Amino acid sequence: MTARIVGTGSYVPEKIVTNEDLAGIVDTSDEWIRTRSGIRSRHLATDMGTSEIAVQAALRALEMADVDVLELDCILVATSTPEKHFPSCACEVQGAIGAKNAVAFDISAACSGFVFAMSTMDAFMKSGIYQTGLVIGADVLSKVIDWKDRGTCVLFGDGAGAAVVRAEEIGVIGFSMGADGSRGDVLSCLSRSTGNFLTSTEPQMGYMSMNGQEVFKFAVKKVPECICQVLQENHINIEDVKYFMLHQANVRILEAAAKRLGQPLEKFPIDIEKYGNTSGASIAILLDEWNRKGMLTRGDKLVLAGFGAGLTWGALLLEW
Ligand code: COA
Repeated sequence: MTARIVGTGSYVPEKIVTNEDLAGIVDTSDEWIRTRSGIRSRHLATDMGTSEIAVQAALRALEMADVDVLELDCILVATSTPEKHFPSCACEVQGAIGAKNAVAFDISAACSGFVFAMSTMDAFMKSGIYQTGLVIGADVLSKVIDWKDRGTCVLFGDGAGAAVVRAEEIGVIGFSMGADGSRGDVLSCLSRSTGNFLTSTEPQMGYMSMNGQEVFKFAVKKVPECICQVLQENHINIEDVKYFMLHQANVRILEAAAKRLGQPLEKFPIDIEKYGNTSGASIAILLDEWNRKGMLTRGDKLVLAGFGAGLTWGALLLEW
C-alpha cells in the first residue's frame, strides 16, 4: 500500500498586500520585488491563526475527497509558525474538525514541511499502520517577520494547503529527504522565550533572519540533486514527469532548477506572484490550484520538492 491523494484544499487569508503597499512601509519598490522574486502580492492573516487557516484548507480537502472526518486515523501538520508551543497545531485542527479517531502531531521542517509530512504519512501507510490521513502545510510567517527588514519582509505570505490521503495500490512512489543542521544560521527564527530560571520573564519576540544569497545557492543545487535521486532510485525517466511542483520561494530559483534538470519551465507550475513564499503551505496550495483547474489526470507522474530552513530539502515522486 502507498499514500494516494484523494482530495486537496487550500486557504489564504482575505487581506491582500501588494508590492506597492510594502513600498509605503520599507525602502523597496514593486520593480525590485518583481524582478528579484516574481512576487506581486501576498495574503496576510490579520485576524486568523495558523490552526484556523489550516482548518479551512482541511475542510475543503475533506469535501473534495468525500471522506468523513471520523474515518481519519492520522493528521499531520507541517508548520514552523504554530500559535502555541503546545498543544500542536495538528491537535487543534483535530479538535476543531472533530476527527476524534485520528492521532495528530506537527512536523517542523520549515519550507520542506509538506514534503516531509507526506513522506511520513506514506511511510505509515506503507507499513500498514494508518489508512486514511490528512496532511496539511500551514504557515503564518507574517507573525515572525521583522516588518522593518526589507531583505525578508517582501518575500513571504500566509496560507494553508491540505491533502486527504488513503492507503491504496497507486500513489507515492518514493521520496528523498535530507538535512544539514550545521547550516542552520543561514535561515533561522528564534522562538518566544521568557528567559532562564529566575531571570527575565519578559517575552522576547524572535524574528526571521536570512542570508538570501546562501539560501539561493543551496536551493538551486539541492533541489535538482534530490529530484534526480528520487527518479533514479525509482527508475523513472525525467521526461515522464508531467509537473515538478516546487516550493514557491522565488521564480529565479524555479528557473535555475528547471535549467539544471534540462526541463522546460512549463513543467514547473508557478503561483508565487499571488501568494509570495507561504513556507510549508506553498506546495500544497499549488497542488490544490492545479488539481482544481483540472490540470492533473490519473496516471500523471508528479514530483513535489521543498527546501528551506534547517537546512532541509526533499522530493516526493507520486503517481496521481
Ligand atoms: N527592496 C530594495 N532593495 C533591496 C531589498 C528590497 N526589498 N532587499 C534588499 N535590497 C538591496 C540590498 O540591500 C542590496 O543593496 P546593496 O547592493 O546596496 O547592498 C541589493 O538590494 C542587492 O541585494 P542582494 O541580497 O544581493 O539581492 P539578490 O539579488 O541576492 O536578491 C533575494 C535577494 C533575497 C531576493 C535572493 O537572494 C533570494 O531570493 N534568495 C533566496 C531567498 C529564499 O528563497 N528564502 C526562503 C527559502 S525557503
